[in-house]
Amino acid sequence: MGSIKKALIPTAGLGTRFLPITSSVPKEMLPIVDEPLLLHVVREVAMAGIEDVVLITGRRKTAIEDFFDRHVELEEALERSGKQDLLERLNEIRNMVNIISIRQKQALGLGHAVYMGKPVIGNEPFAVLLGDELMLPPTPETPTVTKQLCDTYEETQISTVAIMEVAKSEVSKYGIIAGKKEDKWIRVHDVVEKPDADQAPSSWALPGRYVFSGEIFSHLENLPPGRNGEIQLTDAMCKLAQDNKLLARFFDGLRYDAGDKLGYLIANIEIGLQHPQIGESLRQYLKQLSGKLK
Ligand code: G1P
Repeated sequence: MGSIKKALIPTAGLGTRFLPITSSVPKEMLPIVDEPLLLHVVREVAMAGIEDVVLITGRRKTAIEDFFDRHVELEEALERSGKQDLLERLNEIRNMVNIISIRQKQALGLGHAVYMGKPVIGNEPFAVLLGDELMLPPTPETPTVTKQLCDTYEETQISTVAIMEVAKSEVSKYGIIAGKKEDKWIRVHDVVEKPDADQAPSSWALPGRYVFSGEIFSHLENLPPGRNGEIQLTDAMCKLAQDNKLLARFFDGLRYDAGDKLGYLIANIEIGLQHPQIGESLRQYLKQLSGKLK
């Protein structure tokens, strides 16, 4: 087993891009076919061999913890009606990881959310996954993006983050890094949160997958608010980069920006097409529909 034993997933966000549904349903629980968005992210963690998931949660988010808990009444009903397959599926989810949740009382920014994990994570290396982004392995043999980052960390013992190339018009939506290509990775020397297109140091964007050494916490401590008045994870990453302690790598994976309405629908369609029960019918329907669309 590797040295990365914990993953942190911030889930305290207000989900304003998905209002009104998110006024009572946590964004992380929105379904991708029949599974909540967050389950895909937790599965990515489990497939990297990580067993402890630290959820940074907030008010009105208890549905998330309930999802990973047992539901004895439901289990008994499934048992009685002989729905063994569903029962097994629920058990598999419950046994996938250990959930440790920490309440973030105020949404002060991503950097603040990550810092909330310090009492549980201590000085160990850990992964961070943003739940808006769905990353699926293109083939069953491909390691998950988190596993790819863990592998680089194991090799180098240096914090490593995933990056992707984006169009110039998109840079203002992301944290952007600048760095120098080395053998298998990029040595990061600058990180800027959501720069304007004409100020961006590159078009290498952060899609929300990170592995950090425990050192990130010392940079997050006492970090002043940055862009949008929020405590920014990218500002702490910039400090790691200035000390020559941050690597970035491109990843092999299918990415869906499920935090965006269109991206969310696309993820549902594409994952729906792979679904054993409805995939084929959906394919037929989409063929028919494309004939009708102008
Ligand atoms: C956050 C991060 C940003 C990152 C992005 C990925 O921004 O602050 O650096 O590129 O996630 O989705 P948010 O989209 O939460 O505003």
